[in-house]
Amino acid sequence: MESRKLAALLSSLVSQLLLILLLIFPPNSLHPNSFHSNSIDSTTFSLIHHFLFSQQTAVTTTVLSRKRKRPKHNHHNHHRLIPNPDWFPNTFLMTSSTFEWLTNLLEPLLECRDPSYLFPLNLSAGVRLGIGLFRLANGSDYTEISNQFNVPVSVAKFCVKQLCRVLCTNFRFWISFPNGNDVKSVAENFESISGLPNCSGVVFCSRFEVSSLCSSSVSQQQQQKQSTIAAQIVVDSACRILSIAAGFFGHRTDSMILKASSLFNDIEEGNLMNDGSVNGVNQYLIGDCEYPLLPWLMVPFADNVTVSGSVEENFNAAHELMRIPAFKTDASLRKWGVLSRPVCEEIKMAVAYIGACSILHNSLLMREDFSALVSDFEHERKSVNHPCVLEDDPLKTSKALAMRATLATMAKKN
Ligand SMILES: *[C@@H]1O[C@H](CO)[C@@H](O)[C@H](O)[C@H]1NC(C)=O
Ligand SMILES: *[C@@H]1O[C@H](CO)[C@@H](O)[C@H](O)[C@H]1NC(C)=O
Ligand SMILES: *[C@@H]1O[C@H](CO)[C@@H](O)[C@H](O)[C@H]1NC(C)=O
Ligand SMILES: *[C@@H]1O[C@H](CO)[C@@H](O)[C@H](O)[C@H]1NC(C)=O
Repeated sequence: MESRKLAALLSSLVSQLLLILLLIFPPNSLHPNSFHSNSIDSTTFSLIHHFLFSQQTAVTTTVLSRKRKRPKHNHHNHHRLIPNPDWFPNTFLMTSSTFEWLTNLLEPLLECRDPSYLFPLNLSAGVRLGIGLFRLANGSDYTEISNQFNVPVSVAKFCVKQLCRVLCTNFRFWISFPNGNDVKSVAENFESISGLPNCSGVVFCSRFEVSSLCSSSVSQQQQQKQSTIAAQIVVDSACRILSIAAGFFGHRTDSMILKASSLFNDIEEGNLMNDGSVNGVNQYLIGDCEYPLLPWLMVPFADNVTVSGSVEENFNAAHELMRIPAFKTDASLRKWGVLSRPVCEEIKMAVAYIGACSILHNSLLMREDFSALVSDFEHERKSVNHPCVLEDDPLKTSKALAMRATLATMAKKN
């Protein structure tokens, strides 16, 4: 496309986001029943891809529309026309191809059941998804989204809610505990890191702030209800979320949350991590010292009882390595703008955000789209100078201690 046409196109820009989404995903109000009418015309797509996927679109517009004046910095600015493949990851935490894939996948669900007070809502699935994802990925408030997408606040709110609802109800299956061969490969991957066999995942708790302070209409009393909600998460070595339970009050300890979770009951009752062996579980999760030592939950030895070069020290080092995916997943979830700061909404909505971001996290990994995964990752090791909690049940405890002692002999030396 020649730059004059591009300039004309860009100068009619209502808002960068809306324009790009409208161009790629035109509203199909003329063919409401045609299932594929929103699919992307590939010519349009690559065209847009070449010329518009630049964070500097606004700058480009200015440059191009002033082109006849030949400003001195023209040369320099010209380089900004180079397509910027980061535009989608920066805006929506996913590549343009994932965005396209998700639009096609969610289209029938996003476009159904528009509430009557918003009727008719002539928005394509792409724009609806864009609005919802922008809230999740960027975290900006509804007024800002309303400006960016040139829609009323009520429509922005609806699109965000709708996306979360669709993800959390229709796509829950993207988070599932492994079984069969998947269990094997999860365990093998952990074993290759650490030398420890049979590990099914790392369990941890993430806590998120929820604040009603941001809303001006709440009463004084409600304002004090600033709170934390916890999500108990299990991940594999590739940061895939295998289980999540969100919505616990954050002041409860990780151990209390574990025991209140269905994960705990499912494992205790043999519905999960049960490989059918007579002796019960060989599979186990690992967790930090916030958790009790159980036959299916391996926690580290207290640091100050381990001797340098001992199997206990090797075990702790291996254990720490295996827990890196948990730290990484926690940090990656906080890359979603909406979870990176106190969520200014009802608890119910905050829980929906955690669920939606987790489901998106997994679907991105499934597509090998690593836009939402933290890359350079460093975490500081906390030393634990007290033994982790043991359960009252002596039978369980001795079984767990024996299991940990066996595993410790298998840990890779560091
Ligand atoms: C939505 O589209 C219909 C038909 O295409 C049109 O009559 C109506 O005015 C549009 N509504 C809005 C809010 O743009
Ligand atoms: C949100 O978007 C604005 C511009 O639209 C940008 O300046 C800001 O850095 C974004 N925030 C995040 C967390 O992506
Ligand atoms: C790992 O699992 C296999 C098969 O389930 C079992 O035979 C083996 O004893 C387990 N290893 C440990 C260290 O528990
Ligand atoms: C380990 O540290 C804890 C707490 O600092 C202390 O009570 C305990 O005696 C220490 N154990 C050893 C073996 O040093």
